[in-house]
Amino acid sequence: MKLIHHVTTTVVDIRRETPRITVYELADPDGWDLPPFTPGSHIDVFLDDRTARQYSLCGPGSRPDRYRIAVQREDAGRGGSRAIHEGWTLGTIVPVSLPRNTFHMGDGHMGDGAAHRILVAGGIGITPIIAMAEALAGSGARFELHYAARSPEEAAFRDALENGPFSDRVTFHYSNGHDGKGNGGKRAGRLDLPGLLAAAAPGTHTYICGPKPMIDEARDVAEATGRDDIHLEQFGAHATITPGAETAYVVDLARSGGSVEVAVGQTMLDALRQAGVEIEASCHAGVCTSCKTRYLAGSPLHKDLVMSPADRREFVTPCVSEVMGARIVLDL
Ligand code: FES
Repeated sequence: MKLIHHVTTTVVDIRRETPRITVYELADPDGWDLPPFTPGSHIDVFLDDRTARQYSLCGPGSRPDRYRIAVQREDAGRGGSRAIHEGWTLGTIVPVSLPRNTFHMGDGHMGDGAAHRILVAGGIGITPIIAMAEALAGSGARFELHYAARSPEEAAFRDALENGPFSDRVTFHYSNGHDGKGNGGKRAGRLDLPGLLAAAAPGTHTYICGPKPMIDEARDVAEATGRDDIHLEQFGAHATITPGAETAYVVDLARSGGSVEVAVGQTMLDALRQAGVEIEASCHAGVCTSCKTRYLAGSPLHKDLVMSPADRREFVTPCVSEVMGARIVLDL
């Protein structure tokens, strides 16, 4: 049986959200419903045969025939966002992957059992967070949303967040000191993330999507306190990842009994594949977790952008992660 991996879509709506962020809506060319997604999901967008970029789906939850993504132009990036901003027009054909969710609210849709949820977005990290907020608001769940941005002009979806049905649960944190006169949405000073996490009542689950400093700050809290109710997704650091081992090491395969050497400059994933080990992979950037593999011994040097501290104690992403020491044992 052949399984569907890719979907062909076409751009059906383009909207400038901020000077750097444009929102695109994608639909099936014949108007069919698209494969469903849960809040927090992302898709790979294929720009050509060899180039894919990951974008969170920010809705719309009410339209099963649409995928909405928000693309922030990064002129110093690898060129993907520039290609989209400059090349996509209404009718552009865009192949995308099936939605994958590495940032979900528990098993399935909202199965984390939380009494209350805190959603935290930094910059373009609002994209999965707004999908979560819409779903939570629609189901009557208790939540609050904190959105850190440089200024009101750079806050994507500001109108929806300020004037939408859950605006009373949104607090904006502008780092340029803007005190935010206007309707809807509360304004506070700079976001104090450790303080917010420390004040969370028992039973609260917190979902954070933002840039590396924000995620590092939250991960430090999670590791220091051993909490597993803090869920993280990082964006924007893909360009800083340089996959490939800095020192050689050996991967022992517990189930098949073999060993694979990883040379300097090689990724664990490449070494395993060259040795004939079948291992799934998609983003090659530590984002999608499709290569996520259980390890049984050894100390990974994690370079993924999405796994929780609890996940990192059990799993490694061979596409980008390395090893501290001479060996690691994988459950392969
Ligand atoms: S292939 Fe995506 S995380 Fe490894």
